[in-house]
Parts: sequence; C-alpha cells; structure tokens
Amino acid sequence: MKKYEFNTTAIHGGHEGFQPDSVVVPIYQSVAYPYVNAKEAAAISAGEKPGYTYGRWDNPTTEVFEKRMAALEGMDAAIATSSGMGAILLLAHHLLNEGDEIVSSNQIYGGTFCLFDIGFKKMGVKVRWVAKPDSLEEWTSVITPQTKMLFVESPSNPNLFIADIPSLAALAEERDLPLVADNTICTPALQRPGEIGADIVIHSATKYICGNATSIGGIICGSKELIDGLRAVEMRYLGTSISPFNAWLNIIGLEHLSLRMERHCVNAMAVATFLEQHHLVNSVNYPGLASNQYNKLARSQMKGCSSLLSFEIKGTYEDAVTVIDSLKLIVHATHLGTCKTIVTHPASTTHSAMGEEQLRNAGISPSLLRLSVGIEDEADIIKDIDQALKKIE
Ligand SMILES: Cc1ncc(COP(=O)(O)O)c(C=O)c1O
Repeated sequence: MKKYEFNTTAIHGGHEGFQPDSVVVPIYQSVAYPYVNAKEAAAISAGEKPGYTYGRWDNPTTEVFEKRMAALEGMDAAIATSSGMGAILLLAHHLLNEGDEIVSSNQIYGGTFCLFDIGFKKMGVKVRWVAKPDSLEEWTSVITPQTKMLFVESPSNPNLFIADIPSLAALAEERDLPLVADNTICTPALQRPGEIGADIVIHSATKYICGNATSIGGIICGSKELIDGLRAVEMRYLGTSISPFNAWLNIIGLEHLSLRMERHCVNAMAVATFLEQHHLVNSVNYPGLASNQYNKLARSQMKGCSSLLSFEIKGTYEDAVTVIDSLKLIVHATHLGTCKTIVTHPASTTHSAMGEEQLRNAGISPSLLRLSVGIEDEADIIKDIDQALKKIE
C-alpha cells in the first residue's frame, strides 16, 4: 500500500529510516563497505542479511533513487543503471537467450533501434518489427513461440507515437509475455505504465528525471523477483552501474519533477499550437493537440503530453538546416527533457544509424525537426522559432 501521494514520495521516498538522518540524501562515494566479520560477509553476500557489498550492484545513495523510482512508478522494486541504453541491455540479457525473439514497435529511439538491430543480432536474438504499431492485429501476427518480450516506447522519440498500453498489456498477458514500456518521455509524473498493464518500465533517467542535463542514467522498474534477479546476476557481470553521484543528481531531479513536467506540458502545448498554425509548417506531431490522431488515447492514459514534439517544415533538408542554425535562444544539441529548449535534427543525428529505408518507414524525414520544449517563458521560445522560420520564407 502506498504511504504518501506522488509529490511527497518524490521528495521523501526511499529516504525514510536512513541512518544517520539528513535533510539531503548523502552521497556514498565508496566502492565497498567493511564487514563486521566473515560470517556477516557471507550472510550479506548470500542475501540472508541486509547490507552492502560492492558498488557495481549496491550503494546506499543509489538505493534511495531506486526505492523512490519504484514507488513513483507504483512498482515493487527498481534497479538503476549507467544509462537508458544500459537499462535495456541489462534487461535483455536477463530475459533473452540465443534463438529467442522480441517483438518491438518500430517507433523507438535510434539507439534502442541499433541495440535491437545490431546488438541483438550478435546475441542471436531476432527482432520482429511492428511497422504499424497502432495495429493490435500486427502485434498479434508477429508473435511466435520464440517470442520472449514485447517492447514499446510511448510516447515515442521523435514522432510521438502513442501506444495503446492496456490493449498491448492484455495481449502480452494472454500470450504470457512481459510487456516492457519505455516511459522516458512522460516520466511517472504523467504516465504510469505499470498501472495500466505494463510488466516492466524502463527510463533514460538522463532526460526529464534528472531534468537539467547533468548526468547519464537509467532505471528498470518491475517485480521484486525481476529486480532481485538482475541485481544478483546480470548486474554483476555486465557492469552497467550508475555512479553514486549520478544517482544523487537524479534524486535531486525527482524532488521537482512534477512542477517541471507541468510547466513543460503548458509550454509544449503553446509551441505546438503556434507551429500548427504556421504557414511554413507542414505538420506537427504532438499528442496534446486536439487534431492529433493520438489525442484521445493520450488523454485516456496520460496526465499530460510532456514536451517532446516534432514538426515538418515546408521545405528541404537545407531549409531545416537554415532554421536550426538561425535559432538564437533554443539550444541545438543531442538531448531532450531538460529545462532548456533543445532542437535536434533526428534524421542526421539521433536516428541517423537507422538508415534511409528505416527512417522512411518510421516517418523521420529530412525536413523533420525535433523540439524538446523547456521551461523558459513560452513567449521567448515562440519568438525564437518564429524568427528562425522567417529565414526560409
Ligand atoms: C526514449 C529513449 N529511451 C532510451 C534512450 C537512451 O537513453 P540514454 O541516452 O540515457 O542511454 C533515449 C535517449 O535519447 C530515449 O530518448
């Protein structure tokens, strides 16, 4: 049973009973912890007694972050990782063996695509892509006896595909498969996939959770059995551990997550509305817009639409470059989910490794720009976009 509401948990979760008590969670920048005696060492190592052993898989600061995230996602337990990609890799090593298959939406972050397409091939794991992830029939038709997990990113980066998580969860349950949801874009402040049926929730904590572009990190939330298994086995040999300092930066980020997400949503809605009416913009992908095909679905499973959006300008790749290079306030970088508004050209950066055909299938064209709308004043963000768009008039 949950002890506190969301915002109280985001500020206090995982820190109760921590000794010695402190207002701010301390950073335990230590690799190891002396044992009282050899019997205690054996008992802690065997999991018969609580305690810490070695920083690759346990640390008191990281533990606060993990407990807080599990509580915020409404899941039993969590394990923090070196990055979002580290989280997916760690999980894959646990769930998959040579000869297995996974079924994944093709609307996913470019790095995840490459891990599945290149990395999984090396592991002898086949990926069956769902090219129309709106279609439950397609998900159903590509599941085989070898399938070991269903993977979905919702909302997706960069085109804001929204998955019908309850329907996918029902399919996963019927086939006795785990549904893994990447909740990076919404964070638990806006969407809790575990409450609507996902079995495992992963994050790139690098983004909104940390919130100000100071650290790379990831997390997996799931059942106690899953997380205990990951900590006892794969975490020990893969070494995808988060540093205590980065875990601490995420703890600090969580304290104001809700406030930031509220402002992100308001600003993104204003920017999306502006772009939708702009004569130099072809189309806008933002589920908060009433005209968006996912608006109803998003409202049914999300408290807000977060601040990632993408839009296609009326023009060529060169025009897209002109717009990007003309922005003055908005930062041009490979990142999203931070206080500053950031523009990215997915086809040539974050998603470039997907190759032309896959980019086309995923709807990532050369004139598509991605915006991660920050929490500055919306008028300044819009003014900057407007002056940059005027350069291609
Ligand atoms: C939706 C999503 N998932 C996972 C990742 C990978 O996270 P990281 O960069 O922390 O490894 C990213 C990175 O951009 C992402 O956007």
